[in-house]
Amino acid sequence: MEKKINYFENPGAENTAKLIELVKERKEELGIENIVVASVSGKSSVKVSNSMPDANIISITHHAGFRGEDELELEQEYVEKLKREGIPIYVGSHSLSGVGRGISNKFGGITPVEIIAGTLRLFSQGVKVCVEISIMAADAGLIPTDEEVIALGGTAKGVDTAMVLKPAHMGNFFDLRINEIIAMPRP
Ligand SMILES: Cc1cc2nc3c(=O)[nH]c(=O)nc-3n(C[C@H](O)[C@H](O)[C@H](O)COP(=O)(O)O)c2cc1C
Repeated sequence: MEKKINYFENPGAENTAKLIELVKERKEELGIENIVVASVSGKSSVKVSNSMPDANIISITHHAGFRGEDELELEQEYVEKLKREGIPIYVGSHSLSGVGRGISNKFGGITPVEIIAGTLRLFSQGVKVCVEISIMAADAGLIPTDEEVIALGGTAKGVDTAMVLKPAHMGNFFDLRINEIIAMPRP
């Protein structure tokens, strides 16, 4: 089987429109229904929804307090649009840091789950994010684990990485399968 991977010259939000175009193509080719998007503000999810209005989109944001205090980073204009489209916005603990981050922040060192995150970042920030949000969406009961989904993640803002994967729950993390990389930044 031959498949195409698109490599972006640089990571970042500038790749969002092209990535969404590539995801739409692969979604149609594979007949995938569920699309999981890492979208801190909601903006990238709105763009995915504009391009694929019939998809079952799940929008995942940072947990409250990620940037400090109890703040959420969602932006109201995107939240309203996503609500109008019936797109769930999931807010919860990050599966690839979790309490592990609290332990390493307080006592130093690194927990096994943070090593998994660091290893996935060898590919790109987005590869780690795609895996992380798929676990979160599966654990929230928002996507099935017995069929492929497409996950989109990025480098701080926008999306630059997309993968076809079969999700798993936290408790059987190593059953997750990364089946295809649609696009990622090369450097
Ligand atoms: C749960 C979660 C974890 C994330 N982790 C990282 C990360 O480790 N590295 C990174 O560069 N971006 C990370 N992001 C940012 C996303 O990859 C993506 O660029 C961002 O959510 C897009 O938001 P926007 O739609 O507001 O532009 C994370 C986002 C979420 C929701």
